[in-house]
Amino acid sequence: MAAAETDSKITFSLDLYHVSEELGFILPEPLKELPPYYQPWMDIALRVPELVHSHELRSHINKMPLLSSKFLQKHRELRLAHLALGVMTMGYVWQEGENDTAEILPCNLAVPYWEVSQRLGLPPIFTHADGVLANWRKKDPEGPFDMENLELLFSLPGGDSVRGFFMVTLLVELAAVPALRSIPNVINGVRCGDTEAVARALEDISQSIQDMTDALKLMHVYVKPSIFYGIMRIYLSGWKDNPSMPKGLVYEGVQTEAMEYSGGSAAQSSLLHCFDELLGIKHGENSGAFLTRMRDYMPPTHKQFIQDISLQPSLKSFVQQQASERLNQAFHLCVTKLLSLRSYHISVVSRFITVPAARARQLRNQSQDFEKEVISRAPTALEERGTGGSGIMTFLKTVRDQTKDAFLPETM
Ligand code: HEM
Repeated sequence: MAAAETDSKITFSLDLYHVSEELGFILPEPLKELPPYYQPWMDIALRVPELVHSHELRSHINKMPLLSSKFLQKHRELRLAHLALGVMTMGYVWQEGENDTAEILPCNLAVPYWEVSQRLGLPPIFTHADGVLANWRKKDPEGPFDMENLELLFSLPGGDSVRGFFMVTLLVELAAVPALRSIPNVINGVRCGDTEAVARALEDISQSIQDMTDALKLMHVYVKPSIFYGIMRIYLSGWKDNPSMPKGLVYEGVQTEAMEYSGGSAAQSSLLHCFDELLGIKHGENSGAFLTRMRDYMPPTHKQFIQDISLQPSLKSFVQQQASERLNQAFHLCVTKLLSLRSYHISVVSRFITVPAARARQLRNQSQDFEKEVISRAPTALEERGTGGSGIMTFLKTVRDQTKDAFLPETM
């Protein structure tokens, strides 16, 4: 993808970046099946929760044949393969919890996973692009895109809460689609000095961000905090900045040195990266470095989309120059809605991580019967960290507070 999209003669549009008008960053109609040659992968990947539960996943994967990735051709085949290999990898590494992690990913899994990852430009670990964007199907193909009609292709340990977690995140992605459709209108409007068009597009973006917050609220309906914290979270964790895997993971047959990759997180969703770039929100050194690194976990065309938004003439300067009341207010509303989304997200994180972490610590300190509580089985190394490896609350509050810096001085 050329950075020619910054050329003011070319109309900025979504399809240049494989961003869908209907589904945004969500992969349209993910495949459910691979060519029959890959059945040995599918047979295991579809049974990951049950095989982890019976402690048999590693032995099944160790016996799996080493398959060539060359029969995978289309983008959607590669995405399905990346997802299937990803769930197997997370199950393999974390099957026995934080104290008996795998140090080596066997070559029959590592080699094709590496090859597929190279071809997609994704890292060889389970990402947001896998678990959320490419991991869905409609039960009734003609039915609506809603919680009742959506199903996962692959799951991880944690039962219905896993479905809830991925599907609610998918609905947040869906709620953002009108905002994504409006981004080219903002950019093209700034280029040709159309104040009204930019104001209208920003109003649409504000509404869409509000809808994302409303969709995020469903997390409380469909995901149990104790299951998220005590069971699911470890399977989303990576092998970078993770005390349980200080050396990283050796991908056997790929290279002899261990490699480090961050775990899956919606920090890898391209949405907020786009809004930040559009609104001119800058993140400081530490939080900024983490968020920038997360862009390497996105499909390359989506990363390019964010990059090209960042290269456009400044929206904030345009708003200041035009001195239009409506435009000022629309810009202000956008920043306000983004700030509220981030604040709401912090309250979600508190409910799903901070509170259960405190409860787990309390239970561990009391000797009686704590083994019975799911929550107390949670990995201790992750208590203060996000699955991406960050020190959670400090990071999230810094990022939220930096959003405030985008307000125009006179509208604060
Ligand atoms: C139970 C639900 C959720 C939990 C527990 C959670 C937790 C976290 C944590 C711990 C981080 C810190 C970074 C890391 O370590 O990866 C983070 C970052 C982030 N999460 Fe979530 N998250 C949840 C749902 C979501 C959803 C549905 C979205 C929306 C797509 C989202 C968007 C983000 C973003 C954009 C960041 C980066 C920080 C920022 O830009 O403000 N999260 N999340």
